Amino acid sequence: MKKIPIIIDCDPGVDDSYAIALANSHPEFEIIALTAVEGNVPAVLTRHNCLCLDETFDIGAKVAYGATVPLVRPYFREESATHGEGGVGGIQFPAPAKQPEEKAAWDVIYEEAVKHNGELVLFAVGPLTNIATALRKYPDLPEYLKKFVIMGGGTFGNVTATGAKAEFNIWVDPTAAKEVFEKLEVYMVGLNATHAAAVEEKDFDAMLELTAKGNNKESAFLNKLTAFSKENSFGRGEDNNVIHDALAVAAEIDPEIVKFEKYYVWVEDREIENVGETVIDFKGENGKEPNCWVAMDVNQPKFVQLMKDMCKYYAEK
Ligand code: BDR
Ligand code: CA
Repeated sequence: MKKIPIIIDCDPGVDDSYAIALANSHPEFEIIALTAVEGNVPAVLTRHNCLCLDETFDIGAKVAYGATVPLVRPYFREESATHGEGGVGGIQFPAPAKQPEEKAAWDVIYEEAVKHNGELVLFAVGPLTNIATALRKYPDLPEYLKKFVIMGGGTFGNVTATGAKAEFNIWVDPTAAKEVFEKLEVYMVGLNATHAAAVEEKDFDAMLELTAKGNNKESAFLNKLTAFSKENSFGRGEDNNVIHDALAVAAEIDPEIVKFEKYYVWVEDREIENVGETVIDFKGENGKEPNCWVAMDVNQPKFVQLMKDMCKYYAEK
């Protein structure tokens, strides 16, 4: 079977890690590259985490380093309470032997897109700095992509500084997001979808049980990650039971999980109250061609089952 080549541009990240694990467990996907961007934690950590995740899951993908700061806005984060020390739930990886690509993330994305000649599915589950940079450097990139799926935006926000109008990934680099939405057709798995797919405590318990049965490093890692997610959502009241980034991957694995509707969407990049908001023209008032498939409906039980199946897959490896 010919597999679907995919690249995951990411900022691991607890939920980024689930997304990578899920994609790697899907028999029809081949992860060609993991490209790191600044986001949940500084780029020095997201880069390290991409290398370590590739090794933990024996992916053998290219790992390429991307941006360290947004296009215009300053980057400010040192650590993240939501994602734990180091960015992946406080989990310490062994020092990676793997080396990153010499080429930058945007060059790898473009070259692989051209090489796979319209077959590549590109996921972006962090701020869109790398993707915007790729589009600036290679304006013909859209011609070579099969599909572009993001976790970001949505019908409401989670950045309280903006009155919760902006979602984190878009808000970190709204300049990049605005350019990307103008240049690429986006499948937007936003907060309205990811929150509707939130898992319950009993689901984490089931995932813990399944991963405990595995006798390999993948299961050991997922067990620790799940323990962190459970403790930091139901124990401490963070939103770690919303496994945002994995839903973007799930949407591509099983089209029944997320239903999309097409609208015109633009990103507020001015430094005003709603900076980083993905503004969705539901009524077609802008008179603009729809440019974005907005995730509007989610089959939560199917998503939860997919996460459990993933745990089982690794446990039985
Ligand atoms: C997004 O922000 C990050 O914290 C997560 O990894 C996810 O990509 C959710 O707003
Ligand atoms: Ca992320």
